Amino acid sequence: AGLHASAVAKGKLYFGSATDNGELTDAAYLAQLSNTDDFGQITPGNAQKVSEANFPGFWRKTDCIQWDSIEPTQGTFSYTKGDVIADLAAKNGQKLRCHTLVWHSQLPNWVSSGTWTNETLIAAMKNHITNVVTHYKGKCYAWDVVNEALNEDGTYRTNIFYQTIGEAYLPIAFATAAAADPDVKLYYNDYNIESSGSKSTGAQQIIKLVQQYGAKIDGVGLQAHLIVGSTPSQSAQATNLAAFAALGVDIAYTELDIRMTLPSTAALLAQQSTDYKNTVAACVANTKCVGVTIWDYTDKYSWVPSVFSGQGAALPWDENLAKKPAYDGILSAL
Ligand code: XIL
Repeated sequence: AGLHASAVAKGKLYFGSATDNGELTDAAYLAQLSNTDDFGQITPGNAQKVSEANFPGFWRKTDCIQWDSIEPTQGTFSYTKGDVIADLAAKNGQKLRCHTLVWHSQLPNWVSSGTWTNETLIAAMKNHITNVVTHYKGKCYAWDVVNEALNEDGTYRTNIFYQTIGEAYLPIAFATAAAADPDVKLYYNDYNIESSGSKSTGAQQIIKLVQQYGAKIDGVGLQAHLIVGSTPSQSAQATNLAAFAALGVDIAYTELDIRMTLPSTAALLAQQSTDYKNTVAACVANTKCVGVTIWDYTDKYSWVPSVFSGQGAALPWDENLAKKPAYDGILSAL
């Protein structure tokens, strides 16, 4: 059996992969992505973000806020790219993790640099969440409601939402998403929270904050953009997962990749296989961990080389769509 079938046999809900619209014209790529023996879940890597390309003018499209210094031009917006991924998941019988509603990155300038008041930004954020969650209602297994709200030391990241609204933007976002779709699982998602430390503690504080406000939060997403040779051990990950599980929330590994300094060698590929195995094994061992998603499956389309200079080869399939040792490492944990 493959990755997804084996994960299900271990009591997990899925093993999945992120994907992106531009890759779907690659027939060999699409065939493997659609192979439900390996992948029972997909995540749009970019298609549902609030980027200008996906939602031109979107944050302005509201009738309940006063525009102050903001031009009241009515934008057009499009769900086209997100719908392509959602339709593919439905056609393949794969779960969809929807990503993401509130994030400091890939925002149009006039959101991140706009002149906002507490009241107007809350209204615009609610408007966005309500529209997007309603559009995808019934299609998503989970939403990453808020993404990357923390600094490395566990304090709140300075972004337009925190600066304007304060920490209340988090529970407001979760409550708004829950109102728009009571059935979808609502996640807080971040990176560098795969082992204990200030940032993981900060994520636990966010879960408690949302709970204290009386808003629904179902899970925490551990992005897990990890590094070969310095991936936390299985026991370190187990300790961390237990701390989240104690708060009563589900856990998912949402964007797993394990990068190396290029060129890849047999030794690095072997260590990568061990690192993948340890990470997936930590999820398997915790009953609150529902599944693992890799951030695309082939090095051909990984985001890593474009962001981390000199690094790459982070995924279980190589650039020619051949399985690497990491594939068997994952499988050995399942
Ligand atoms: C990345 C995509 O993979 C890239 O294609 C895009 O250029 C930038 O965003 N954390 C996240 C993801 O939550 O949305 C990011 O995805 C990777 C880091």
